[in-house]
Amino acid sequence: ITMNQQRDDQETISLISSLPSDRDFHSNKLFNYQRCWYDKKTLQGILNFQRGFEPQDTDIIVASFPKSGTTWLKALTVALLERSKHSSDDHPLLSDNPHGLVPVLELRLYTESSKPDLTSFSSSPRLFATHVPFHTLQEALKGSPCKVVYIWRNVKDALVSVWYFECANLKIEDKDERRSMLESMFESFCTGVSFYGPFWEHVLSYWKGNLEDPKHVCFMRYEELKKEPHVHVKKLAQFLGCPFTLEEEESGYVEEILDLCSLGHLKNLEINKTGKTGRGVDHKNFFRKGEVGDSKNYLTPEMEKRIDMIIEEKFRDSCLKF
Ligand code: A3P
Repeated sequence: ITMNQQRDDQETISLISSLPSDRDFHSNKLFNYQRCWYDKKTLQGILNFQRGFEPQDTDIIVASFPKSGTTWLKALTVALLERSKHSSDDHPLLSDNPHGLVPVLELRLYTESSKPDLTSFSSSPRLFATHVPFHTLQEALKGSPCKVVYIWRNVKDALVSVWYFECANLKIEDKDERRSMLESMFESFCTGVSFYGPFWEHVLSYWKGNLEDPKHVCFMRYEELKKEPHVHVKKLAQFLGCPFTLEEEESGYVEEILDLCSLGHLKNLEINKTGKTGRGVDHKNFFRKGEVGDSKNYLTPEMEKRIDMIIEEKFRDSCLKF
């Protein structure tokens, strides 16, 4: 550990101890930093990232609230950017999980230090991911014209997806235990005191970012991508600066990319059936149903109504529909 890192760690400790704190549904202590909630380890990663990240103008950042379509967006972004470099049998998506290919800055790369070794990201553009809200990301980007692609989805589907993921990671199978977990997570979502929450703070930060600078911030919605994948993947390619040529479109290349990145295809690859991430999460837990509105099968009508009202109120000043 260098002297600089020691000084940074000291600063981090004193900053964290000055922040408001609360408990989430697991009784985990969360800290409020720049209007969102994080556990201590994640916050250390965020502070290292904000301090030490040296952006390159060509960097691309995939951003999302957890469980909102990140895996799909990462896969699509890799597939679009790599399309001239690989044939269909040596494609990186066939031998690694999208989260291995596009690591989350604050959860993987900047956890220990503000100057991690990023030499493996030598080819341009470098592709990274984050779950922090836009205002927090902007501080790390220090005015650089990086491109940011954000994906969000309906809050109820995101909540159920987080719940499924937690239960799968913790191997909770007991029906009552799962149910009580969903109920307490629901409470955390409603109050906003949840990992990377409040949900609305997150979505609105990128919504504003996109309004102010649409050339650098792309704002996508999972439901729309599901409904019209061709339209949105073409828009994404355009935004990333690698639009499809007429020839590519005519030869069915758009479908090829959509098939490569589809839930059914990725889920059944050996690497995603058996592999684990660097943090020990089974790759298979990232793939569930991918259905819009599936939360109906888990939330009571009262729960739906309550969270819809909260989101409606929070989104009132925007034109966002939940
Ligand atoms: P469900 O739990 O609703 O099925 P994230 O990727 O941000 O962790 O979000 C996980 C959600 O995206 C899960 O939703 C998962 O099934 C879905 N998903 C994962 N890969 C996908 C893909 N290639 N296409 C569509 N949805 C996908």
